[in-house]
Amino acid sequence: MSIAIYPGSFDPITLGHLDVIRRAAACFDKVIVCVMVNAEKKSPMFTAEQRVALIRASVAEIDNVEVEAFSGLLAGYAVSKGAHVLVKGVRNATDFDQEYQMAAINRGICPGLETVLLPSSPAYQHFSSTMVREMIKYGQPMEKYVPAPVAEEIKRKERA
Ligand code: PNS
Repeated sequence: MSIAIYPGSFDPITLGHLDVIRRAAACFDKVIVCVMVNAEKKSPMFTAEQRVALIRASVAEIDNVEVEAFSGLLAGYAVSKGAHVLVKGVRNATDFDQEYQMAAINRGICPGLETVLLPSSPAYQHFSSTMVREMIKYGQPMEKYVPAPVAEEIKRKERA
């Protein structure tokens, strides 16, 4: 069984992330979306548990996708899940440079752990969680940036 891990902060998940998940799910038997908990990233918009719940709601119709949170070394997590592949989305040359380095680090820790880079679909090339958080500040409609469950949760938070 081919298992791939798609790690990230996903604070929040965007339509660009969802596009990568769909495409990865078409390539592997199972894709585990891993919400990486970074203690250094202060005051996240959503807790790790909320992010997991929002991603689960967003991928509900994709059969071979699971979602978990993890804090620690990604390569170790991948090994514990029996995964040999990490999936990353790349939007531009900056992403590529970072991912190229991270792929080497992860492969250094765990020989045989490969990183598969999926070029972002053109429609989502400028999407990022940072951009979404910025758009929220200016009251922009969220539906064109994030999956419906996330847009609904953002509206709910705003009303609260
Ligand atoms: O969505 P992000 O914040 O760009 O994702 C970065 C992430 C979480 C994938 C990366 O920081 C990561 O892999 N962190 C886990 C810690 C780790 O394993 N570090 C060594 C590899 S660089």
